[in-house]
Amino acid sequence: MTLRPRRVGTVVERVDEVASTMDAIVEMDGLDKDGAVLIARRQTGGRGRRGRTWHSPEGGLYMSVLLKPKVEPDRLGLVPLWAGLAVTRAVSKWDVEPHLSWPNDVLVGTKKLGGVLVEGSLSGDKVGRVVLGVGVNVNNVIFPTGVPGTSLRQELGRAQDLDAVATAVMERLTEAYNAFLDEPGGFLEDYEHLCATVGQPVACETSTGTVHGEALGIGEAGELLVRTEEHEVLHLREGDVVHVEVEPGADVAEAHAGEGAEGGGTGDGDGEGTEDDADAGGPSP
Ligand code: BTN
Repeated sequence: MTLRPRRVGTVVERVDEVASTMDAIVEMDGLDKDGAVLIARRQTGGRGRRGRTWHSPEGGLYMSVLLKPKVEPDRLGLVPLWAGLAVTRAVSKWDVEPHLSWPNDVLVGTKKLGGVLVEGSLSGDKVGRVVLGVGVNVNNVIFPTGVPGTSLRQELGRAQDLDAVATAVMERLTEAYNAFLDEPGGFLEDYEHLCATVGQPVACETSTGTVHGEALGIGEAGELLVRTEEHEVLHLREGDVVHVEVEPGADVAEAHAGEGAEGGGTGDGDGEGTEDDADAGGPSP
């Protein structure tokens, strides 16, 4: 056990509006502390994974946490996964059944409820500061066209207490952070249970191309293990996963052949809005 447990929320600062809490938390005075939290009511330049925009109108939870974990740099790839698991557990306190899509999309059914963005820095060969951003669609109900998103309000039919969601997320992140410091990969079994990607035929869009295959599990550095149609096992460290629907009796290759027509499996979106290729106060393709 960690001798001195860490807490997410040692300092909690709230602001009405910032461009992105990811930058503001390192720029604002008094927040350069392990476990400090910045929450914004809205963001004008919210960002999501892989360079996407994270639409951040009032009603959503927009939070960044500053961490100074004493771990080896090669363990940093696990942070997005335990953070995603913590957020998924936090929102399961509400009457929704969330699950994960690798690495850290929080989904209800096939719609995105929340996500996690991790930005880290090394100081020499040591981990310096890690900024962990969490976005959860709580009371926002408009998502960009082409992006299937949802919110707690939309799922449950009435507005929910935003502060209660923030508190639940901080509690779960505190547990997950301490568990990670004690045993970095200890959470991976629980992660695999809540991760809908594992065991599925997938198409994973990486920066070097799209990989098709079956997701076998998660490696010890947090990478997605995919067995390709050529029976090679790849360790993917980044990417966007599409869970490919396979008709009973069809093989994975046939399912991939139909992908283009289905728009890559991203669905029709679930509301108004105008921007494509953006994260809806949430969603990523
Ligand atoms: C994703 O693409 O799924 C990750 C989204 C992370 C969004 C959060 S909202 C708070 C923090 N500030 C940002 O600009 N992004 C993260």
